[in-house]
Amino acid sequence: MGMSVTTSIATEEDAERILKLQYLCYQSEAELYGDWAIEPLTQTLDSLRTELKERHVLVARLGDEVVGSVRGWVDGDGLGRIGRLCVHPRMQRHGLGTRLIGGMERLLAAGDQPVRGYRLFTGHRSLGNLRLYQRLGYRQTQVEEVTRSLSFIGLEKPVAEPVTQLAATA
Ligand SMILES: CC(C)(COP(=O)(O)OP(=O)(O)OC[C@H]1O[C@@H](n2cnc3c(N)ncnc32)[C@H](O)[C@@H]1OP(=O)(O)O)[C@@H](O)C(=O)NCCC(=O)NCCS
Repeated sequence: MGMSVTTSIATEEDAERILKLQYLCYQSEAELYGDWAIEPLTQTLDSLRTELKERHVLVARLGDEVVGSVRGWVDGDGLGRIGRLCVHPRMQRHGLGTRLIGGMERLLAAGDQPVRGYRLFTGHRSLGNLRLYQRLGYRQTQVEEVTRSLSFIGLEKPVAEPVTQLAATA
């Protein structure tokens, strides 16, 4: 049997590995939009290090290798914001992306700030991503035109109601 993938909170020492993974994973998005200057491909190590201090970051590891990552934070409206999801191309389509999103949702919900829902964005041509998020319960709430060739689709999902509350209203 091969090694299993574990997910955990990223440390400062993961910065370079996360950035390398991000540069690799977002090549497919760059190709899709014909734009290699998209933020995930131009982010600096310093900026990522700041994110590691100020935001929640999860990594998926296979041995020492970082094979997946996701970032999150809670905004002023009480929405858990989730972004920069990436999974190493050779590990894709085995449920790791799903696991990282679920892990980040739980991490944000367990924090000090109350969370009423989650929001994430993807590009309008990223149909695979849209399918993934829809399958996880996210619904489209907004479209923001960034340039003539790129719009961001915003998707949201409410926090699941506690079971007791559901029973009371049934
Ligand atoms: C998005 C991403 C993290 C998904 O990771 P993953 O481990 O493959 O995710 P899962 O295995 O949990 O889910 C797979 C689903 O992702 C979706 N998907 C994402 N990209 C896809 C693609 N290029 N082709 C087909 N399906 C894709 C599909 O819905 C797929 O489900 P399916 O296999 O039943 O068709 C990964 O594809 C990635 O790193 N992409 C490049 C970076 C990126 O676009 N990040 C998101 C920015 S919003």
